[in-house]
Amino acid sequence: METTTSWTREKPTRSPFAMPSGLPGRLAGRIMLWTNRQQDLLDLLDVQAGEQVLEVGYGPGGLIRLLQQTPARRISGVDPSPQMRNLAAQPHRAEIATGRIDLQLGTADRTGFGDAEFDCVVSVNNVAIWPNLQAGLSELHRVTRAGGRVLIAWHGGTRPSRIARSLALPEDKATHLERELRSFFSGVTRHELTTLTVWAAVR
Ligand SMILES: C[S@@+](CC[C@H](N)C(=O)[O-])C[C@H]1O[C@@H](n2cnc3c(N)ncnc32)[C@H](O)[C@@H]1O
Repeated sequence: METTTSWTREKPTRSPFAMPSGLPGRLAGRIMLWTNRQQDLLDLLDVQAGEQVLEVGYGPGGLIRLLQQTPARRISGVDPSPQMRNLAAQPHRAEIATGRIDLQLGTADRTGFGDAEFDCVVSVNNVAIWPNLQAGLSELHRVTRAGGRVLIAWHGGTRPSRIARSLALPEDKATHLERELRSFFSGVTRHELTTLTVWAAVR
């Protein structure tokens, strides 16, 4: 099983939720699809007609399914796990063929997309897994157009499950994330949704 080291942890993790692969990865993907509720994040994102949206770390594609119902012109995503790409792509064969949905392999710090391609960039239950926070934020800044929106969500919120509560960022890490966000973006605000803490920012 693969391991990854992140800016939030000193020790590498083998969690199939962080690096989904093999049978444990498949199971983790199904659990994420079943448990992750992201409608209120979508409401906060407020996708407008014709916008181009990027999701970083789409996993099994729960948010991609919701984004598909918005008037976005193009919905793109990056995730390093081929297994998650297969799972996330399954319900969208037709829209992948037309190019409206575009799910690529990549990471937060190397998305492979062009400068200022997106009106909004969103990442959910993903930021604390990034190996390097600054490199990830710098890449998000690069691919978002001036005036575009960036939303970074992590476990937390007003009614987190027991597991989500145990995964919530300690305040020193949350403050660090907020400070780094302010060094790249303006208008940084923190929101508590039902099961997610969200940092919103403007490029
Ligand atoms: C806990 S899952 C969350 C998936 C999805 N966003 C959700 O909420 O259901 C974390 C995902 O982040 C991906 N991931 C791991 N390292 C990453 C990185 N450096 N950049 C982007 N995504 C990464 C994993 O492959 C996995 O699909």
